[in-house]
Amino acid sequence: MKLLNLGCGHKYVKDAHWINADMDPASADVQQCNFLNGIPFPDNQFDLVYHSHVLEHFQQKDGAVFIRECFRICKPGGMIRIAMPNLEVIAREYLNALDKAAVGDTKAAADYDWMLLEMYDQTVRNSSGGAMLQYLTQPELPNPDFVFRRIGGGGRKWREQFLQQASGEATKPSKLALALKNPARAWDKIYDAFLRIVLGKKRFQYYQTGKFRNGGEIHQWMYDRYSLERLLTSVGFTQVKVQTAQTSYHPNWASYQLDDPEENASIFIEAIKP
Ligand SMILES: C[S@@+](CC[C@H](N)C(=O)[O-])C[C@H]1O[C@@H](n2cnc3c(N)ncnc32)[C@H](O)[C@@H]1O
Repeated sequence: MKLLNLGCGHKYVKDAHWINADMDPASADVQQCNFLNGIPFPDNQFDLVYHSHVLEHFQQKDGAVFIRECFRICKPGGMIRIAMPNLEVIAREYLNALDKAAVGDTKAAADYDWMLLEMYDQTVRNSSGGAMLQYLTQPELPNPDFVFRRIGGGGRKWREQFLQQASGEATKPSKLALALKNPARAWDKIYDAFLRIVLGKKRFQYYQTGKFRNGGEIHQWMYDRYSLERLLTSVGFTQVKVQTAQTSYHPNWASYQLDDPEENASIFIEAIKP
């Protein structure tokens, strides 16, 4: 079996069957590549091509090229599995919270605020984490049950770790340790310091905004079960099926623990290359 995890971030399986790739590799086990330049593998290579929370980071036209590339590298009979924010559910949750907040339900008002962050902050932010980070790191979350039902156990763990570091209970990795772990990023910071002098404050800010917005964090397009099926079939995939975090055409998918069954923000969809 040959399996590929595109845009794996920190979430990947380290074994002989898997290849993991990302523009910003989290470790030496991850191959560096920018999918906007194509996916650097030969035709008909993989039994399974997986990406989680990656497609929404491409503009719509680049997303279509990316999915075509996924089709090209899949073996005939192989499958694609996509996990990504579910626009349909975001819209329904937003409308539900709006209806309640508008008639004075103060608890729903917090849910409404959170849904706006899911819908807009991830697209319009100009710095890492954006307003969502500020919301998640408040000392008291107004609606933890709702937020963690949306983003799952990973989000809860991340918040706990952040608060422990902020209070000094847990140690934050030093800047030197981070630089040694990722020398490319350290060089980038040195280059930026140089550009700041050359460009001056205002122009440097414009440059930084552009760099951030092209850096892979923000959402450039959103999809739902209808537009994803249309996109997958348009490049030749068949047998499109909406799955859950635990279900798959792949019999042992849940054993890889790549998709969080506790979160409700994602759509999981699969299709087969005929
Ligand atoms: C939101 S993270 C998702 C990480 C992981 N798959 C997960 O589900 O937690 C998006 C990942 O896609 C990567 N990425 C975004 N644009 C990319 C591109 N053009 N080429 C390669 N990787 C990209 C980012 O570096 C980041 O690791």
